[in-house]
Amino acid sequence: MPKPRQQFLCNQCGSVHPKWYGKCPDCGTWDSLESYQAPTEDKHRTSVDRTGTDPADGAQALTLDQIDTETVNRISTGIGEFDRILGGGIVPGSTTLVGGEPGIGKSTLLLQVAGVLGHRTESSRPISVLYVTSEESARQTKLRARRIGLQATHLRVLAETNLERILHQVRQHRPDVVIVDSIQMIYRPDLPAAPGSVTQLRDCCMQLVYYAKTTATAVIVVGHVTKAGTLAGPKIIEHIVDTVVYFEGDRFHSHRIVRCVKNRFGSTHEVGVFEMTGDGLREISDPGSLFIHAHAQPTSGTLLTAAMQGSRVMVLEVQALTASSVIGAAKRKTSGVSNDRVSMILAVLEKRCDMRLAADDVFVNIAGGVKVIEPAIDLAIALAIASAHINRPVAPGTLAVGEMGLGGEIRPVPQLQARLKEASRLGASQAIIPPIGPDIPPLNGMAIHEIRRINQALAAL
Ligand code: TYD
Ligand code: MG
Repeated sequence: MPKPRQQFLCNQCGSVHPKWYGKCPDCGTWDSLESYQAPTEDKHRTSVDRTGTDPADGAQALTLDQIDTETVNRISTGIGEFDRILGGGIVPGSTTLVGGEPGIGKSTLLLQVAGVLGHRTESSRPISVLYVTSEESARQTKLRARRIGLQATHLRVLAETNLERILHQVRQHRPDVVIVDSIQMIYRPDLPAAPGSVTQLRDCCMQLVYYAKTTATAVIVVGHVTKAGTLAGPKIIEHIVDTVVYFEGDRFHSHRIVRCVKNRFGSTHEVGVFEMTGDGLREISDPGSLFIHAHAQPTSGTLLTAAMQGSRVMVLEVQALTASSVIGAAKRKTSGVSNDRVSMILAVLEKRCDMRLAADDVFVNIAGGVKVIEPAIDLAIALAIASAHINRPVAPGTLAVGEMGLGGEIRPVPQLQARLKEASRLGASQAIIPPIGPDIPPLNGMAIHEIRRINQALAAL
């Protein structure tokens, strides 16, 4: 048997390197390479590929016509927002990673999903669920289940951390859905690496994916997102699993946003909204005005924008604050939007609108802990910063949507009609947008200002 090769795996991006570097050559993270023992050919065969060794037994190459296109029978979880994130339900044979910071509600959500699935009787065969809890005891899980009022008859709980034993139980009970909470705490005793290390994480995950694929079982694994902690981050298993969803925001808000960042069975990156209550997570199918706030008096630096979150429009509040800074050390801090994007917007404001911001600290925030990556909110950020800078409030209920180019031009954004419709439904009074064309939806009296350049928008303030 060949000697196992010593390699180094980045716990951020998952790249493998033949020697150790202080900084990962692929993703640039410092101190992220950990020693990793690549499975040798033989070991791989016994652990992952249990189907035998004759290559002739393997899958055959097929033409597209020969491939069965019978529609995937998704298992609806009965929790609308969770189904939405997954693109309509859990796909048998798929592996889903649910990530998030500790205490954000991963176990609560999955126990609720397990409870609803395990309780259903309307289909001919109820859906059996095995909930593997590797962090809490079975008793703790039962207490939590009682707290959130579950009465699932087809739900089994297993408190175990050894993957061999977990798979033994799984093969014995053959559940339709296996939930592993969390993947970082389970280990394979035959690997030399410590539980929680990248080697364990990757190999355990591979083995679960292999089990899911060969038996058409849906597997959901929980992974903690750690801030440079000792446990390997879930990033390195993202490419192994089919679907990745992350809890966003922080645990100081009562609502939770769950975003799908990868889905091999769905087209859009959907977002689900939940609220953490005394008895578990409650789904919020219409977030509506959840993220906007009626201010008692007009405040400078605050206005509304409408962002696409998956296929849904969310009306959000953008807030900016500028304050004079120590000379030469201006800070730019953002929350919910990209720092780079804000720097670009500041540069455009300086250059095209003659606004002196270089000596100011600038803070930009999306209220409610929502994260927005689309450039369609550029205009709202620019106007919020401008309003804060000149210290003049924007009229209450003003919405701004539009992408901003480096020349200060305002560009059209996708789904503008849908955004305006949602904003008018929530009572926005005026909208500053790029030219919209002839088909304007009915807007409940919301005034529209079409602009082509950022200067025009500032004049409209
Ligand atoms: P948990 O699901 O354990 O988080 P994770 O698995 O992501 O680490 O939930 C954590 C928090 O949620 C915990 O601080 C308590 C709170 N919580 C409620 O507010 N209501 C509830 O019904 C439950 C079960 C938890
Ligand atoms: Mg947990």
